[in-house]
Amino acid sequence: MKISTSPSAISDQKKDAVIVFFQGSENLLPAGDAALKKEIVTLLKKSAFKGLAGQTALFPWNGKQLILAGVGAAEHFHNGLLEQAAAAAVKAGVAAGLKSFVVSSTIKLKGLSEADHQLLVGRGAAWGTYAFSAFKSDAKKVPATSLVFCGAIKDRSAVGAAEAQGAALVDTANLANLPGNEAHPEKIADWAKAMAKESGLTCQIMGKAELEKKGCDGILSVARGSARDARMIILKHKGSDPKAKPIVLVGKTVTFDSGGISLKPGKGMGWMKYDKCGGMAVLTAMQMIARMKVKVPVIGILGAAENMPGSRATRPGDIITAYKGKTVEVLNTDAEGRLVLMDALGLAADMKPRAIVDLATLTGACIVALGSSAAAILGNDQKLVNELIENGATAGERLWQLPLYNDYTEDMKSDFADLANLSKSGGAGTATAAAFLQEFVPKDIPWAHLDIAGTAWLESSKPHQAPGATLFGARLLARWISSQG
Ligand code: BES
Ligand code: MN
Ligand code: ZN
Repeated sequence: MKISTSPSAISDQKKDAVIVFFQGSENLLPAGDAALKKEIVTLLKKSAFKGLAGQTALFPWNGKQLILAGVGAAEHFHNGLLEQAAAAAVKAGVAAGLKSFVVSSTIKLKGLSEADHQLLVGRGAAWGTYAFSAFKSDAKKVPATSLVFCGAIKDRSAVGAAEAQGAALVDTANLANLPGNEAHPEKIADWAKAMAKESGLTCQIMGKAELEKKGCDGILSVARGSARDARMIILKHKGSDPKAKPIVLVGKTVTFDSGGISLKPGKGMGWMKYDKCGGMAVLTAMQMIARMKVKVPVIGILGAAENMPGSRATRPGDIITAYKGKTVEVLNTDAEGRLVLMDALGLAADMKPRAIVDLATLTGACIVALGSSAAAILGNDQKLVNELIENGATAGERLWQLPLYNDYTEDMKSDFADLANLSKSGGAGTATAAAFLQEFVPKDIPWAHLDIAGTAWLESSKPHQAPGATLFGARLLARWISSQG
């Protein structure tokens, strides 16, 4: 979606549709536009529109369409709801055949900066145009769409960022939504290479032989039961300060998680094509960062492997050796994400980073704890955790911290190796998984782990998005990293 600005009023624009946001029955238009506001009052009287979160309504007005979009009640507001309202408005508009949209450059919402309004609304609008239709024989071609922010704008940078981030989200969604037969590790590496070239990142791929030489038996042990070999994909954004230490982002990229020999039940197993979504969020964030020309150097590592129960598959009870030498007893081959991540975190630590953040659809327990409303965050550095939570709230991606008590580390010890990939107690699934990961990060490197199991994809249609990958995590990472000096 093309996003631009115009100094003239909304009512003067010759576009297909005008989007107006509502918090309950209150329109969020800034001062001015009396005629439009008066019209809205009349329309609302004979409409069922209540400004609920995700609710939209279309009315003909002044030779164009008026799209009302709700963010819900003030007491329940969070920034994600504004991004979703913008997406829902555009999605409804596109379904009605509309292509060009206008919206006010400012909004009457307490605590939201003008720049964040433009970023959330622009990015949401771009997301609202997206549909994954690669395998639909009757798919219609998506028309070219545009959005104009109307009114005085002091700084255009948020509008540019919204367009760049929207494009990165839409591009990566086409990969993230591919099923396991289409998006195996080698294919992910090919996509990453092509995307890196396009956005100006460097890309290095480690295949099986190189991973063997390095001693990365964690990721290799996961791939062993699959006909598809593993890949470690390393993307680099150079930044403008050559002396600065990099931020390293690590993403679990399990292209399909059958559970391996500890096979998952059949019901819902198809959703495990989305077990690559940690890596997909990192890939998206890297493209956002490159397109926004962020100052700090950033490295993205995608650990890509397929977890299958082939005859060479890792068996429960097997003992493997992680990169850098710690031994791990694999008690459950379905706890594979941490095996991929332990090697990737070891490689990340070698890069002398200022911080490491990993994202993974790691535990079903995270969904039990938080559902799809927030991702879990755990880490060894409270300042980093706080920064990520804060940026998540602003970027519309909520994080909730869980503790990393030493009890959880104790719970991950093995009778036969240094660590087990399964806790003895069976409790605190999300925290024990994080405690396992923590063993592979040197104590002096600030590290945070985001468990995105409940937020990485949608299983049913919502006004702002059809079922599929959400790329949760990319938005908050882009905001956090671009705020770093
Ligand atoms: N990818 C799954 C976690 C998952 C499950 C994410 C459902 C989203 C939806 C992960 O590899 C896994 O299977 N975890 C196990 C760990 C257990 C065996 C310790 C789980 O959560 O059941
Ligand atoms: Mn698993
Ligand atoms: Zn998994």
